[in-house]
Amino acid sequence: MSNKVYVTREIPKIGLDILSKYFEVEVNKKDRPLTKDELISKIKGKDAVLTQLTDQIDKEVIEKANTVKIFANYAVGYNNIDIEFAKKRDIIVTNTPEVLSDTTAELAWALLFAVSRRVVEGDNYVRKGKWKQFSPKLLLGQDINNKTLGIIGAGRIGKAFAKKSIGYDMEILYHNRSRDMEFEKVYNAKWVDMDTLLNRSDFISLHVPLTDATYHLIGKKELNNMKDTAILINTSRGAVIDEEALVKALENEVIWGAGLDVFENEPVVHNKLLDMDNVVLLPHIGSASTETRDKMAKIAAKNIVQVLKGKDPISQVK
Ligand code: GLV
Ligand code: GLV
Repeated sequence: MSNKVYVTREIPKIGLDILSKYFEVEVNKKDRPLTKDELISKIKGKDAVLTQLTDQIDKEVIEKANTVKIFANYAVGYNNIDIEFAKKRDIIVTNTPEVLSDTTAELAWALLFAVSRRVVEGDNYVRKGKWKQFSPKLLLGQDINNKTLGIIGAGRIGKAFAKKSIGYDMEILYHNRSRDMEFEKVYNAKWVDMDTLLNRSDFISLHVPLTDATYHLIGKKELNNMKDTAILINTSRGAVIDEEALVKALENEVIWGAGLDVFENEPVVHNKLLDMDNVVLLPHIGSASTETRDKMAKIAAKNIVQVLKGKDPISQVK
């Protein structure tokens, strides 16, 4: 009898084709994540589960997943899975690193450009028929060239983000638990402490995973430490920022603007953010390019194939 695989949301065909070649595959065809009860009932008797970042794989789910050998998360982040508990139960967890680093870094840049040059406001202005003539002081934004870029978290995505600043002659500051001398040399990046990064950077972009240590890493104190012209970009996880504190900082012009792809309570967005012109809001689409989502689907599927065939997965979270 072939192994049974459950896929919690429909992913690109290329991944499903790989799985169907070897296994009996069931896919949630609903256009929404499953509730916890649905999830628990669906993964019963399955050998592998391909999960999304919206699936909370907590102790309760893991305890009931007694036939599951692998949770293959369709994301680089894995804060939705209780890794330690899965380990105790000998369940392998995998993610999809590397293939999405450039794509996510590109979206961080898209947000940086959109906020600093007021792209979305301008688009709305045109569409709403407000544009009557050229105006010398209309929608003044901020230059990017020659400014200081502050990168918090210099893993693969943070470094890809830094790399794309070449051409804008920026000073690159970064803060990370460990220093990377090669990165410093190649991109002329300077490691600085958090306070220095916050008060010197014109643009601050977050590229840390969500952990106990990074929860609300950016709160009132950190926002107060930023320039009043600063633009904050978040493509990591919403809860890295204290969203309530960010709303207050934006309201009080403590910082100039923000570009957010992720939120504390997805898909709920703080209602005050929805009324602000100095923010650009996106629905968690950091890795959402056709090419990258295909690659992620392939990696997640291959991880499952490897594990169910008794081999090492290609990207295990350890
Ligand atoms: C998306 O947010 C991911 O972690 O891949
Ligand atoms: C993701 O791949 C990261 O390490 O930033």
